[in-house]
Amino acid sequence: MRFDIITIFPDFFRGAFEHGIIRRAEAARLIEVKLHDLRAFTRDKHRQVDDRPFGGGDGMVLKPEPIFDAVESLTGASGRESYKQGTRVVLLSPQGRAFTQELAEELAQSERLILICGRYEGVDERVADALVTDEISIGDYVLSGGEPAAVVLVDAIVRLVPGALGSETSAANESFTGGLLDFPHYTRPPEFRGMQAPEVLLSGHHAEIERWRREQALKKTKRNRPDLLENAELDERDKALLEKFDNDI
Ligand SMILES: C[S@@+](CC[C@H](N)C(=O)[O-])C[C@H]1O[C@@H](n2cnc3c(N)ncnc32)[C@H](O)[C@@H]1O
Repeated sequence: MRFDIITIFPDFFRGAFEHGIIRRAEAARLIEVKLHDLRAFTRDKHRQVDDRPFGGGDGMVLKPEPIFDAVESLTGASGRESYKQGTRVVLLSPQGRAFTQELAEELAQSERLILICGRYEGVDERVADALVTDEISIGDYVLSGGEPAAVVLVDAIVRLVPGALGSETSAANESFTGGLLDFPHYTRPPEFRGMQAPEVLLSGHHAEIERWRREQALKKTKRNRPDLLENAELDERDKALLEKFDNDI
């Protein structure tokens, strides 16, 4: 899978992809990450990427021409209708649809993701209207630029590329897969500052450990993210447990 990141600050990413799973996935040639300096696609001698907003107001807006040129030079296509199958062009934007584990799973099916990082007041709207396939937000807050959001997308998606994680099963057991938060984890020592790791985890009884983990995942989801329960995959035992938690409160 290939990621192309279009940014006015390619140096921002120095170091961000040089650790852990992303670095290993690149070394194993499971993924490729290419950075593209937006200024390289300008045609004027000042290499201007931004301009004042029409209609007045604060700040600057990223101009459409270099962004269109950058994406067209990467895709070899003019117009999003002619992108190769498996290519998605993403504009990072607080106005986009929410980035979730489900969307990460969908994007992980792509062969190529082109990520456009905005800055300043944002990006000329014609980019969203005619160039991109997806406008994506990483949360309901405003960042200074799309670069941190691009790192978030790449990180969450790479974890889902087959072979990228050490253990193939780890992604399947994580938060949001199946609609619940992850269960709590403990490691050595069994007792730390008077706090005991749950006895059941030390028992070696796999069925009981699984039951405990499911119960804890339900409890934590109910406490921290009750909204997730509406769409979670729950069986009758889960529902009974949730009712019991209600009664316990
Ligand atoms: C300061 S923001 C622009 C905010 C814009 N004026 C607004 O209020 O919607 C500059 C850039 O940061 C990026 N950005 C900011 N918040 C983001 C978020 N929550 N998710 C993804 N990208 C974000 C976008 O690329 C955006 O163009």
